[in-house]
Amino acid sequence: MRKPIKLGVVGCGYWGPNLVRNFRALPECHMRMICDTDLERLKHFRTLYPEVEGCTDYPEMLNGAGLDAVVIATPVKFHYSMAKASLLAGKHTFIEKPMAASYAQCQELVELAEKQGLVLMIGHTFLYSAPVRKIKEIVDAGDIGILRYISARRLNLGLFQKDINVAWDLAPHDISIIQYIMEEAPLALNCHGNAHVTPGIEDVTTMYLTFSKDRSATIQSSWLDPRKTREITFVGSRRMIVYDDLAQIEKIRIYDTRVERPPHYDTFAEFHYAYHYGDIYVPFLKQEEPLKIECQHFLECIRNGLCPLTSGRQGAELVRILEASTASLKKNGASIAFSGNGNGAPIGPAQARAKRPPNGNGHPAAEERSENAFAAAAASR
Ligand SMILES: NC(=O)c1ccc[n+]([C@@H]2O[C@H](COP(=O)([O-])OP(=O)(O)OC[C@H]3O[C@@H](n4cnc5c(N)ncnc54)[C@H](O)[C@@H]3O)[C@@H](O)[C@H]2O)c1
Repeated sequence: MRKPIKLGVVGCGYWGPNLVRNFRALPECHMRMICDTDLERLKHFRTLYPEVEGCTDYPEMLNGAGLDAVVIATPVKFHYSMAKASLLAGKHTFIEKPMAASYAQCQELVELAEKQGLVLMIGHTFLYSAPVRKIKEIVDAGDIGILRYISARRLNLGLFQKDINVAWDLAPHDISIIQYIMEEAPLALNCHGNAHVTPGIEDVTTMYLTFSKDRSATIQSSWLDPRKTREITFVGSRRMIVYDDLAQIEKIRIYDTRVERPPHYDTFAEFHYAYHYGDIYVPFLKQEEPLKIECQHFLECIRNGLCPLTSGRQGAELVRILEASTASLKKNGASIAFSGNGNGAPIGPAQARAKRPPNGNGHPAAEERSENAFAAAAASR
């Protein structure tokens, strides 16, 4: 029997408890320590999970608990410093979305993880969900024809954040899904928005991303909407998919709907679009908690030296888009073009699943370690 991976979670506010619950339930994991500066939260977890230790000091968790891996679920402003400390302490590191507060910080973390030969994974949970996986399968199989555009709406009343705007809070989910489906970085973006409630922090934003081959995506994010909406439409040349994440069942509906132009016409009077309204099809989806699959994937990547589907590089590309959205907001919605890697570069899952490159510090790269070597390394930490 392989030794369980010893894990600590920092940040147990709204989202952290879901990570603790899922990791704790996995036999491959020893959920060892929870860290939060809020003593009341720690007391609460002590009653829920008496076997899990608690502490208020992050360096204490990093250096004193003999962990193999650290999960960071604190507000975004802490992600970079906490992840850097974790990687420098030799821990495989999972960071909640968005990865960090700037692209430069993300790049530094990616390089550090590669140098240390450690797994760096980002919590883009939707890529582990059955509906998104099914949509990817359908689009890749060409069932909807040529993908023309994606339109995402993520709206509700609150939860207002103090340090990030609504695009940084809600749009990471949509951007990660769009990146996954499009398999390339955008060419440019525009972002409009307004700060109605907290000065300087936009609570309503609309992003428009352009991609190669006349493809595009819009992302509407709001903390100021009376109805909770979680909807993404994928429009193809032959069919269209509507994904409603709030639907209890039938989260995905495929519409056999399209518009066809008649091949020849001489006068405008002869010109008629042919609207095709066909069947609506609801595919079967396996019911499984995406977060469980995500947590399992992190452990598998550590065990087998794999690069996660939602790697640090993916997380960095996503933050690059968020950063561009902020730049566009500051310029009243001006277009921001991506250069270099961010311009139409492929970012597909095939790349993401590749083995991590060997590190350059004389350390064996994680993928080169045998199971025994992993156990020895874990024991020596
Ligand atoms: N993947 C998802 O679907 C999803 C959903 C919600 C939130 N999130 C992400 O999870 C992260 C946390 O969000 P949240 O809504 O849970 O925030 P939150 O404010 O509810 O919780 C953060 C917790 O971190 C603790 N904390 C703050 N500074 C600390 C420090 N220095 N040391 C130890 N603990 C500290 C706070 O006391 C608090 O309990 C964010 O990055 C957010 O974007 C992801």
